[in-house]
Amino acid sequence: MAKEPVRVLVTGAAGQIGYALVPMIARGVMLGADQPVILHMLDIPPAAEALNGVKMELVDAAFPLLKGVVATTDVAEACAGVNIAVMVGGFPRKEGMERKDVMSKNVSIYKSQASALEQYAAPNCKVLVVANPANTNALILKEFAPSIPAKNVTCLTRLDHNRALGQISERLNVPVSEVKNVIIWGNHSSTQYPDVNHATVKTSAGEKPVRELVKDDEWLNGEFITTVQQRGAAIIKARKLSSALSAASAACDHIRDWVLGTPEGTWVSMGVYSDGSYNVPAGLIYSFPVTCKNGEWTVVQGLPIDEFSRKKMDSTAEELSEEKALAYSCLT
Ligand code: NAD
Ligand code: LMR
Repeated sequence: MAKEPVRVLVTGAAGQIGYALVPMIARGVMLGADQPVILHMLDIPPAAEALNGVKMELVDAAFPLLKGVVATTDVAEACAGVNIAVMVGGFPRKEGMERKDVMSKNVSIYKSQASALEQYAAPNCKVLVVANPANTNALILKEFAPSIPAKNVTCLTRLDHNRALGQISERLNVPVSEVKNVIIWGNHSSTQYPDVNHATVKTSAGEKPVRELVKDDEWLNGEFITTVQQRGAAIIKARKLSSALSAASAACDHIRDWVLGTPEGTWVSMGVYSDGSYNVPAGLIYSFPVTCKNGEWTVVQGLPIDEFSRKKMDSTAEELSEEKALAYSCLT
């Protein structure tokens, strides 16, 4: 029997990530090739005409899984009955800015959209915040939508996770599909900590630790980390626009694994509400290694943390606490 359609909201759908993301969702990349979808697209009135153009293209693409499109500038209409909300709407940073420089503009959007989701979305709606500063926008959304379970509000660090996989794959000249279990700890910002201490590569002789294969701790503790931390800025410098196709693809990966589960023996990175695991302060949206099953994520517990990692995990947590204070000061 055919499945019931899932309603997926994309905010900022007329923007560049939106333009890359909606066809992926309509093709089944996010929820599977047998899952019909109804797309809800929200943008602001100045982008209404462009949004309508995206809707026209979705019709023209004749996606078999796409059972309907709502394109609107009305937040209540956009949120009505949605099962999944991908929050991309906001102002992207430009060259020379840090992600927190877009804070004051974006957190107030997330406060007001929190209320709309709370009022109009389907119960148990899963929320993924992509717009920067992603962790803090997600935290504000969670705090101003108290009836949405904290576990349902997440932010995107899967792009950073995928970037780390990509760097290891290039360095070792192995397919990226053979590399797994990197971790992004903390903030989707230049203080994030990309950790390869538990990462492995599938080889003809079995699974091997990345450190054993790379044989260059100086690179792994130095250039590798800064390359991943600065990749967003490098893309902005090269494209004069922030990453879009990789961000859209990572958003699909994030939701797909959350809803359909992570493969056995594999974890992924997600920005989730901290419960104090790994001595990360509770009450922040912090990126952890997680596994997913039956639509629920669980933080991977018990990984040994060395002193080098501890320092980096603490400093990104500190930045998130500062961002949280700054966000609240922007809202008053
Ligand atoms: P963009 O400017 O091309 O698109 C953003 C869209 O949001 C625009 O169409 C704009 O009109 C719309 N918008 C603005 N305010 C809105 C509101 N209140 N409600 C609904 N829509 C609204 O930007 P983009 O390149 O698509 O990037 C979107 C966001 O994603 C930015 O904040 C960017 O920094 C962030 N980003 C995050 C990651 C990540 O890994 N977390 C990766 C790439 C980009
Ligand atoms: C990215 O990581 O590519 C995005 O967050 C865009 C940015 O501002 O870096």
